[in-house]
Amino acid sequence: MVSQTKSAMGQFITSMRSLFVEEQDVEKRWQRLAPLLRILLSDPVIKAQSKKWPKCAQAERAENLLFYEDPDFGFVINGLVKAPNTRTSIHDHAHNWTLYGVLDGSENIERYKRLDDGSRPDYAEVQNTDHIRVGPGDIDLVRPWQIHAEESGDERTVAIIVRAEKAGGFLQGRYDPVNKKYWQGYGPRQIPYRLD
Ligand SMILES: [Fe+2]
Repeated sequence: MVSQTKSAMGQFITSMRSLFVEEQDVEKRWQRLAPLLRILLSDPVIKAQSKKWPKCAQAERAENLLFYEDPDFGFVINGLVKAPNTRTSIHDHAHNWTLYGVLDGSENIERYKRLDDGSRPDYAEVQNTDHIRVGPGDIDLVRPWQIHAEESGDERTVAIIVRAEKAGGFLQGRYDPVNKKYWQGYGPRQIPYRLD
């Protein structure tokens, strides 16, 4: 929980909560959240704080720092610190909406589309459709079931991620495009981390 209500994070939470009340159209809500996150990403204090955030594991099951979980609306604010040149598996976030904002460093984001109809268990054909390079202040809106992967650049990369609900308690899709495999796994472990 953030105690400094005047901090950029405190202001971000307040404005997010207002938008959750005001905007009931889910697609529009998540589009309108992006500029709020951009303001947070431009805050020099949080950028300075992030220098000491711990690195998160990127194994079969990743880790996220958990900064905040909203008691009324359920959204969460995560931090993610990746070592240089770390690539995630190709995955989706199931039904969860996600805003992925880069605070420091850079990332390559790959997006994929599914070509088969999903009727065969353990099988998926996916094709790369986009390759986007993002840097500080850039935000990627990851819609439910969108298939993607992220790779950090040559330096430590820090992201602030907003999710509609806490990840880790439900299964998400994973994809191997070479062997056309599909399987599911739990999302990132949530590591509670208190912001000063
Ligand atoms: Fe992701």
